[in-house]
Amino acid sequence: MKILVTGGTGYIGSHTVVELQNKGHEVIIVDNLSNSSAEIVDKITLITGIKPDFEIFDLTDIELTSDFFKRHNDIAGVIHFAAFKAVGESVQEPLLYYHNNLTSLINILQGMKNNGIHNIVFSSSCTVYGQPDELPVTENAPIKTAESPYGNTKQISEEIIKDTSKVNDLHAIALRYFNPIGAHETAIIGELPLGVPNNLVPFITQTAIGIREYLRVFGDTYPTPDGTAIRDYIHVVDLAKAHVIAVDRMINNKMKNNFEVFNLGTGNGYSVLEVIKSFEKVAGIKLNYSIVDRREGDITQVWANPDYSNKELGWKAEKGIDEMTLSAWKWEKALRESTK
Ligand code: UD1
Repeated sequence: MKILVTGGTGYIGSHTVVELQNKGHEVIIVDNLSNSSAEIVDKITLITGIKPDFEIFDLTDIELTSDFFKRHNDIAGVIHFAAFKAVGESVQEPLLYYHNNLTSLINILQGMKNNGIHNIVFSSSCTVYGQPDELPVTENAPIKTAESPYGNTKQISEEIIKDTSKVNDLHAIALRYFNPIGAHETAIIGELPLGVPNNLVPFITQTAIGIREYLRVFGDTYPTPDGTAIRDYIHVVDLAKAHVIAVDRMINNKMKNNFEVFNLGTGNGYSVLEVIKSFEKVAGIKLNYSIVDRREGDITQVWANPDYSNKELGWKAEKGIDEMTLSAWKWEKALRESTK
């Protein structure tokens, strides 16, 4: 089956392309390379032995997007990752985020409608739950007012897709990711943050390798056992595999509703200090860190109830925290080795 992966040269996108190819799907990537590089296509090819098709253009361009779908009206399913994702930047540049993340989605849905393409998997986030009232958080938890324009684009996108699925012949699955970390076991692909990383694990590995002086732990006075904030970290390859299952579910008409939502998490929460301890253990390194003030907009704790995904998708995250931090560390080392 031919699957379009938008944002397929990005972090989660590239790992998903590998898993799709491993399951025998034909992949076409569309990416504008705004936060990734064309070399990733060669790296994917190195891992799987199959070169995915690749087109470079911006999905906010209606002409180019509509022309693309006309030329590829045999696509069986779309997995839509292409989006901006930096929370802080979205606060500074809301229009950039709303324009990029929403226009591209609308253009894709229009292109699909015009060309009889019916299946889309959307890259959503647990950020839609805000600080949930009950933990672990299920898919039925209320959607909270978004903390950032980035988070709001995920909420609005889900609504756009849901409304469209009510009237058009559209089957859609929104996958709400918890905190994806780690890298492919080959250390050929992984996360490539531009500039100073915002996220915890790339910051840890860059500190350990000597690019950053020390890690700042944002707050140790949260009402959690060790005072640092808790998240549900999930290995990016586990996450990628769920996308293949989701797209197969649509293609094989297994959906219960035209619009479905699934949590993608492990169900286990780890504090910032626990992640650091795991990293120190697997890497055999003492990490330089210091406790600083809380980061604005951060919630205290969130972890998933993955029961519905486990049951309905027949999917379960398999990799534990140590495998996640170890794969991130191997990736960081391989990356620095290759750029020496
Ligand atoms: C955020 C977004 C999420 C988005 C994800 C990836 C929110 C609520 N969540 O997740 O939607 O998908 O980024 O871009 O906006 N930390 C430190 N020091 C650091 C970096 C992080 O202590 O240098 C702590 C944070 O305070 C947090 C935890 O580590 O407690 C994880 O942070 P991060 O990796 O940035 O992810 P989230 O903020 O959970």
